[in-house]
Amino acid sequence: MKITVITGTEVQGCTYQLKEAFLSELRQGNEIKEFYLPRDNPHFCRGCKLCFDQHEDKCPHAAHVRPIWNAIVDSDLIVWAYPVYVMRAPGHVKALLDHFGCHWMPHRPDSKMFSKTVAIITQSIGAPNNGAQADVATSMTWLGVPRVKKIGFGLIDGTIWEELKPKRRENFIKKTKAFARSFKNLKPAKMSLVGKTIFAVCRKMQQNQLKKTAKPSADAQYWLDQGWIKAR
Ligand SMILES: Cc1cc2nc3c(=O)[nH]c(=O)nc-3n(C[C@H](O)[C@H](O)[C@H](O)COP(=O)(O)O)c2cc1C
Repeated sequence: MKITVITGTEVQGCTYQLKEAFLSELRQGNEIKEFYLPRDNPHFCRGCKLCFDQHEDKCPHAAHVRPIWNAIVDSDLIVWAYPVYVMRAPGHVKALLDHFGCHWMPHRPDSKMFSKTVAIITQSIGAPNNGAQADVATSMTWLGVPRVKKIGFGLIDGTIWEELKPKRRENFIKKTKAFARSFKNLKPAKMSLVGKTIFAVCRKMQQNQLKKTAKPSADAQYWLDQGWIKAR
């Protein structure tokens, strides 16, 4: 299977150790592509909306964003590993997600996303991980991904991997490896009821939009090209 991994820190610390433990179970026989943030997309969305109104290749950051998006669309499993920053996902993770807004279901979703699986790995010193996980999970759902699995840890002893109690480190590694094994022999996921409902509402929205304007928007044209809506 093809795996894309996006690690939300360049520090080779706790996130890195968990990500490596996860991949150690899946390296054999799988094709893995890795990205690190902010290195591989150091940009915030500028709000120009060229992606929405014209095409994602018009984005001033397309040279960074496009290879990551292409890898995601091409993979069976997408892994997000990142630390919790102030109870949420780090800003550079959100900055990348913002660039994917044009692929959300109300805009131009890629149907290949409708069968993908996502794994989210997070850790904090002790704060709940769910807010940070939701930042990525929400985007994945609106991109059309039906299966999102999560694992999160509280480090407790501090933020330096080598300074954590050895028993605690072992436990994190053991749990992360078991989590990774649950993705072996991965089958394509089926579109969920939530996904189907969002898609149906978006289809109606695009069909209605066509009635209002002489020239279809970039989004409506995409839906027409996919055969998801009918020309007037
Ligand atoms: C800017 C910043 C904000 C953080 N915010 C929190 C937080 O709100 N709650 C928490 O428990 N840990 C917080 N942490 C700790 C991280 O979640 C993480 O445990 C730490 O960065 C170690 O992971 P790393 O080695 O991958 O960087 C924060 C760390 C940083 C650098």
